[in-house]
Amino acid sequence: MPRNGPGAPVTVRVPAKVNLHLAVGGLRPDGFHELVTVLHAIGLYDDVVAAAGPGTTVEITGEGAGTLSTGEDNLAVRAALLLAARRGVDPAVRLTLHKGIPVAGGMAGGSADAAAALVACDALWRTGCTREELHDLAAELGSDVPFALHGGTALGTGRGEQLTPVLGTGSFCWVLALAGGGLSTADVFAEHDRQLPARPLPGTVRRDDRPDGVLAALRVGDPVALGAALHNDLAAAALWLRPQLRAVLDAAEALGAAGSVVSGSGPTVAVLARTPADAVRIADGLTASGTCRAVRRATGPVPGARVVA
Ligand code: C5P
Repeated sequence: MPRNGPGAPVTVRVPAKVNLHLAVGGLRPDGFHELVTVLHAIGLYDDVVAAAGPGTTVEITGEGAGTLSTGEDNLAVRAALLLAARRGVDPAVRLTLHKGIPVAGGMAGGSADAAAALVACDALWRTGCTREELHDLAAELGSDVPFALHGGTALGTGRGEQLTPVLGTGSFCWVLALAGGGLSTADVFAEHDRQLPARPLPGTVRRDDRPDGVLAALRVGDPVALGAALHNDLAAAALWLRPQLRAVLDAAEALGAAGSVVSGSGPTVAVLARTPADAVRIADGLTASGTCRAVRRATGPVPGARVVA
């Protein structure tokens, strides 16, 4: 294999996430909600290529690419500009995002691209950041960006950016039911607040905030126990904004899934199967049910953003 010469393009592969547990606490003065969440990286990927400039540009290919901004508000562009500013280098990079993660699907695709852009530009520009430095830059960019760097399974607190790795056994088989059209994360949080105005104060942890059932199931690698423990406080808001999701959850249950949950702020529904063969059967059943736009299969956990070429 030829080694990368100076300025040779760098490709970083980065996974999607699902929240196995998402408990939403109070609204903080900075406009974010206090969270207790378990994040789980699954094998549905975006590939981000960073090639030498001129300027800072982004091109996007794949499903939903046309709906995304290619301006300076694109989170991957913001990641490149932030890294360049902090390390005092010229932000000369041509980014290409190949989307495999559904856009605005509650699977942190935009955050994944930002994490991948940090890793790719750090390699392209030879800025030599440590994992900790990349983590801090990631946390400035968005709540889910640090997890996309780390991958695996992690407990997230604060606004979701403070991570503790979770030890688990084995691999889980997921079926993702993709919806037509996305949901805005901010809109779903706002709807959540509208439905539940009397939330606990920031820092207050309710008994059901604790993801004990999820953590126990992960430890022993039991999909049935994990399926029963899946929990998302944002599900009611997502279902209010997108009532069709009820039919997806009902179809998954009728197909004998171990469990199912709205992924993050939705509208993707993550369905857990007991076995790989069951995942194939459930994917076929969901496709036939006509309740979703498309179906994907993926296993988790998988590693976070990493250089593949
Ligand atoms: O951090 P990120 O930019 O991905 O968040 C998008 C939006 O989601 C925020 O502007 C906020 O409205 C909402 N959010 C929140 N509490 C969190 C994370 C996100 O209210 N912990």
